[in-house]
Amino acid sequence: MAPRQSRGVMRSPKQPAKLAMLLLLALLLLCNRIGDVHGKAIHENSVDLHALLDFKKGISKDSQGALSNWNTTIHFCRWNGVTCTTTPQFRVSWLNLTGHNLQGQISPSLGNLPFLNLLDLSDNSFIGTFPVLNNPHLTFLLMSYNCLTGINPNALSNCFNLSYLDFSLNQLEGSIPDGVGQLPKLQTLILGENMISGEFPQAILNHSSSLQYLSLEYNMLGKALPSNIGDLLPNLIELTLGANRFDGHIPVSLGNASGLQVIDFWNNSFTGKIPTSLGKLVNLTILNLELNHLEARDRRDWEFLNALRNCASLNALALADNQLEGSIPQSVGNLSPGLQFLSLAGNHLSGQVPQSIGKLSALTSLALSENNLTGTIDGWIIET
Ligand SMILES: *[C@@H]1O[C@H](CO)[C@@H](O)[C@H](O)[C@H]1NC(C)=O
Ligand SMILES: *[C@@H]1O[C@H](CO)[C@@H](O)[C@H](O)[C@H]1NC(C)=O
Ligand SMILES: *[C@@H]1O[C@H](CO)[C@@H](O)[C@H](O)[C@H]1NC(C)=O
Ligand SMILES: *[C@@H]1O[C@H](CO)[C@@H](O)[C@H](O)[C@H]1NC(C)=O
Ligand SMILES: *[C@@H]1O[C@H](CO)[C@@H](O)[C@H](O)[C@H]1NC(C)=O
Ligand SMILES: *[C@@H]1O[C@H](CO)[C@@H](O)[C@H](O)[C@H]1NC(C)=O
Ligand SMILES: *[C@@H]1O[C@H](CO)[C@@H](O)[C@H](O)[C@H]1NC(C)=O
Ligand SMILES: *[C@@H]1O[C@H](CO)[C@@H](O)[C@H](O)[C@H]1NC(C)=O
Repeated sequence: MAPRQSRGVMRSPKQPAKLAMLLLLALLLLCNRIGDVHGKAIHENSVDLHALLDFKKGISKDSQGALSNWNTTIHFCRWNGVTCTTTPQFRVSWLNLTGHNLQGQISPSLGNLPFLNLLDLSDNSFIGTFPVLNNPHLTFLLMSYNCLTGINPNALSNCFNLSYLDFSLNQLEGSIPDGVGQLPKLQTLILGENMISGEFPQAILNHSSSLQYLSLEYNMLGKALPSNIGDLLPNLIELTLGANRFDGHIPVSLGNASGLQVIDFWNNSFTGKIPTSLGKLVNLTILNLELNHLEARDRRDWEFLNALRNCASLNALALADNQLEGSIPQSVGNLSPGLQFLSLAGNHLSGQVPQSIGKLSALTSLALSENNLTGTIDGWIIET
């Protein structure tokens, strides 16, 4: 890295006018360096230039002319969507071509941009397989809303700085590549709304203890979750697995991922009891377990409800369309006073509606239909 030219300037803040002048001068000098001289741009770095030109070659249709100024008479740092590092040699640091209706394949030449930090090609019509990239600085990769059908198994194995990865809303088939799960700094992984099958990827568990946001909804993933998922991913904040084919029990170990705020397992085939360990999640705001095969046959099975009163931020508890039986315990009234959404519809509940529900003064939505419940709640007018 070249030393920052402005270092001396920063030390004399008492002379604002001089400071502004010097900053302006520095900016002018900087702009000049990316200059277009006599209609021919000086390209400090031909590696980046050729990587971008090869990427352009892979584009079969550019109906909006998004790449119309991508030619060698203009410095590539001024091309649409390209942002360069601010110091020589000006290297490509961001490539953002979101929402331009670009069609074609993604060229592996993008892997030849060693300073690339952000790649946003979301909301286009890229097809084919996402290629192998080897960009050590790549931190943000946004590929959602395209027509990709695969990811090369080694696609991102060497992108060790990758923190944010979004391939949602594509047509990805097959299982999640192991390489994706072996990224040591990955915090966000969004793969929702594809056609991904197979089991919950072992590689993610083994390697991504940094993971905070994991979204796999609307895929065809199946089988049971690893029983130690909460220990393998201790930093999880949101776990969204809705509309898949997961079965087996909800792992007790989820209670060990103490920062969890959102658990959304809607529309799967989970069986067994709801673990009381979820009550350890003090920051839980949304627990959505609707449309599964979860059971509560006796008082002990209902203990989770009592445990959940520790979740002081709980905003939504959705348990509709399961196989919960018996009467609703009075402890329902001890849930967070901030609870706004409670659904228990479509179970096998019977008996009187507990009066304690009346204590949940923030409730705006209460769904109890399709059960065998009777009674009213004092002071409430029920709209159906
Ligand atoms: C390069 O792009 C500029 C800006 O769009 C355009 O004016 C110029 O004609 C282009 N040059 C070539 C050789 O395509
Ligand atoms: C890419 O650019 C668009 C505007 O063209 C912007 O809305 C979007 O946030 C940018 N992407 C990233 C990841 O910054
Ligand atoms: C990750 O990025 C940092 C800062 O940009 C850089 O110093 C480091 O070398 C990168 N890591 C790898 C493995 O390249
Ligand atoms: C994950 O770890 C387990 C044991 O810790 C090992 O048996 C398995 O091969 C690993 N899987 C991958 C994909 O690394
Ligand atoms: C549940 O998810 C499946 C896909 O796994 C989907 O086809 C179905 O429509 C979903 N059910 C509901 C009620 O939305
Ligand atoms: C994780 O959870 C399980 C089940 O609740 C528990 O037995 C185990 O001790 C926990 N592990 C850690 C590291 O807290
Ligand atoms: C819960 O959230 C608060 C506020 O964001 C945070 O300070 C605290 O560390 C969180 N607790 C856990 C166990 O993650
Ligand atoms: C309600 O109770 C009746 C008789 O006790 C039973 O036949 C019916 O299946 C129950 N309905 C539900 C939704 O559990």
